[in-house]
Amino acid sequence: MISIAPSILSADFAHLAGEIEKVEQGGADLLHVDVMDGRFVPNLTIGPAVVSAIHKVTRLPLDVHLMIEEPSRYIDDFVRAGASWISIHAEADRHLHRTIKQIQEQGVRAGVALNPATPVQAVEEILPELDYVLIMSVNPGFGGQQFIRRALGKIRRLRAMVASSGYRTRIEVDGGIGFSNLTEVLDAGADMVVAGSAVFNSPHGATEATRELRQIAQRFSQVLQAT
Ligand code: DX5
Ligand code: ZN
Repeated sequence: MISIAPSILSADFAHLAGEIEKVEQGGADLLHVDVMDGRFVPNLTIGPAVVSAIHKVTRLPLDVHLMIEEPSRYIDDFVRAGASWISIHAEADRHLHRTIKQIQEQGVRAGVALNPATPVQAVEEILPELDYVLIMSVNPGFGGQQFIRRALGKIRRLRAMVASSGYRTRIEVDGGIGFSNLTEVLDAGADMVVAGSAVFNSPHGATEATRELRQIAQRFSQVLQAT
């Protein structure tokens, strides 16, 4: 099962509810919410109050990507705000295992995100505990950046690690993904895909763009099943 997760980072923040409704109509599986603290990444976005407001206007599960230092300090706030999935960065937390448990003990799925320069080995020891790993295919901080192609090899290596371990860890990929490279990303082994600017800056509108991404994913799954 492949999940498409539009990132609201590129949405019109003054009309968030309407923007979210568009991707719901296009068949989004999750809503990706980028939280930035101006320290871990050079940008500031939203906090638990906005996540909570979003939660009230959508039935989509919220996939909260924490690009913040010391994420453990804020986990409980984001859980209360309605997150269904929370990822923390390996580079931002010295006690990944503890924070992952803190997330899961509250019934929320937990993932570890890896910057482009961080090898997949960073999650090797903790892999059995993780619901998902998020591979960044751009440097976190901004939407609309170019996909870093080396990420494809990294996705493949992680997929091989997951397959040989027999775990059911999901692999999410985030950054620079659109209609032209989605199939490549899926073929490398991703099963959760984030798309921000490809959805919200699409000339065809966010509903149609989401629908198109879903169709590409569906065609990919059908080909895979047939082979
Ligand atoms: C970047 C964020 C991404 C961003 C992706 O730091 O983590 O989720 O919204 O945007 P695009 O799809 O435009 O690269
Ligand atoms: Zn993100």
